[in-house]
Amino acid sequence: MDSILIQGGGALHGQIPIAGAKNACLALMPATLLAEEPLTLTNVPRLSDIATMTQLLQSLGAEVSSLADGKVLAMSSHDAENHVADYDIVRKMRASNLVLGPLLARHGHAVVSLPGGCAIGARPMDLHIHGLEQLGAEIELKEGYLHAKASRGLKGARIELRFASVGATENILMAATLAKGTTVIENAAREPEISDLATCLRAMGAQIDGDGTRTITIQGVDRLSGATHPVVTDRIELGTYMLAPVIAGGEVELLGGRRELVSAFADKLEESGAAIEQTDTGLKISRKNGRMNAVDVTTAVYPGFPTDLQAQMMAHLCTADGTSVLEETIFENRFMHAPELMRMGADISVEGGTATVRGVDRLKGAPVMATDLRASVSLILAGLAAQGETVVSRVYHLDRGYEQVVRKFRAIGANIERIKS
Ligand code: UD1
Repeated sequence: MDSILIQGGGALHGQIPIAGAKNACLALMPATLLAEEPLTLTNVPRLSDIATMTQLLQSLGAEVSSLADGKVLAMSSHDAENHVADYDIVRKMRASNLVLGPLLARHGHAVVSLPGGCAIGARPMDLHIHGLEQLGAEIELKEGYLHAKASRGLKGARIELRFASVGATENILMAATLAKGTTVIENAAREPEISDLATCLRAMGAQIDGDGTRTITIQGVDRLSGATHPVVTDRIELGTYMLAPVIAGGEVELLGGRRELVSAFADKLEESGAAIEQTDTGLKISRKNGRMNAVDVTTAVYPGFPTDLQAQMMAHLCTADGTSVLEETIFENRFMHAPELMRMGADISVEGGTATVRGVDRLKGAPVMATDLRASVSLILAGLAAQGETVVSRVYHLDRGYEQVVRKFRAIGANIERIKS
C-alpha cells in the first residue's frame, strides 16, 4: 500500500484549482438512470469513488464514457435494463445507495445491496426507505439486499424527514421527479450538492422548487430528457486547502472557491485569526503573524460547520493558542484521527461526541495511519507544520476524495511525496 511522506515546516504560497464536488457528482451520476437520453457531466473530479460509481452504473447496463482526461462523463441509460445493484460494488462505497430511488422510478422495482463506506458510524438507511415507502414503494430486506417495488408506480406524497439526511433527500428527490402528482420533502437537506442535483434534474425537465431550503416541492413529470451539467465546486476540498496556509503559514488562493460554499467554516477560521478575501478568481487565505487562536466548533447540517471538515479543523487547533472544544453531532464515531494526531504530540481528550484540544507549540512528525477519507487529509495537514518527517500510510482513502493531492500541495511549496509500495 502506498504512503505519503511529508517534511514539515515552511510557509506555503501559490494557487490551487478546486475540483468539482465528489459528493455532488456521486448523486448526479445516478440521475442518468432516470432518462433514456444522454446525461453529460462536466467539471468531474478524478477520484476512485467516481470510478466505483461508473462501475456500478455500467453493471446496471448504462454506458459511461470518460472524456477530456476524466473531467467529462458522458452517460446513457438508454439500454440500462438491469435493476440489481450487486454487493461486490456497493460495499465499496455508501453513496452506491443513491441508485435506489432512480432504479425504482425507472423500472418500478430495484434490488440494491446495503452499502458499506467510511467506518465513521452506523449510517443506516431508514430515512431513504421510509421516504420511498411514502411514495408507494414496498421495501423488504432479504439477505443483505433491499428489495423495492412499486407495482402501481410511485405517487407523490408529503414526506417529513426525522433528520435532514443528504442521501435520503437525494434519493427521494430523484424518485419523486417521475412520481405521479406532487411530492413535498419537509426538513430536507440544504447542502449545495442538493441544489446542484436539483439544477441538473431541472435541466432534464424535472419540476422542482425550494431546493436549498427546508421544503422541496416536486411536481412529477412523465419523462426526463438529456442534459449537460457542470458539477458544483467541492466545498470540502476547498475548506481542506484553506487550512494549509492557516496551519503552515503563508498565503494561498483557491481557484474557483466561493465563500458562500463554506461560510460557517470561514467564520471560524477568521475567529481563529486567518484573513480571507474573495477575489475575482477564487478565495485567498493567509495566516496573520503569530499564533492562531483556539476556537470551539460544533458540526451541524448545512449551513452549519460541515462534519467533513471537522478532522482537518482539529489538525489546525492542535497548535492553536488555548483550548478548543469540538463537538461532532452528525456521526457517532468520527474522532479516529485524534489518537493519530496524539502520536504527533497533540494534547486531545475525547469523551463521547466531544473532543477537547489543548493547543501545543508544535507537533512532531511521526508515522501515522489514515482511518477514513477526511481523517487521512487531516494527518497530511498536521504533517505540513510538524517538525520533521511524517509518514501517512493507508492512503487509498485519500484517492477516494482528493484528486492529485500530492501535486496540489506541491504546487504551493509543500515538501510532500507519494511513496509507492
Ligand atoms: C453525505 C456525504 C458525507 C457527509 C454526510 C453529512 C455524500 C456521498 N456523502 O453522506 O460526506 O459526511 O452527507 O454531511 O454526499 N442517517 C440515518 N438514517 C438514514 C440516513 C442517515 O439515521 O436513513 C444518519 C446517519 O447515520 C448519520 C446522519 O444521518 O448519522 C447523516 O447522514 P446523511 O446526511 O444521510 O449522510 P450521507 O448522505 O450518508
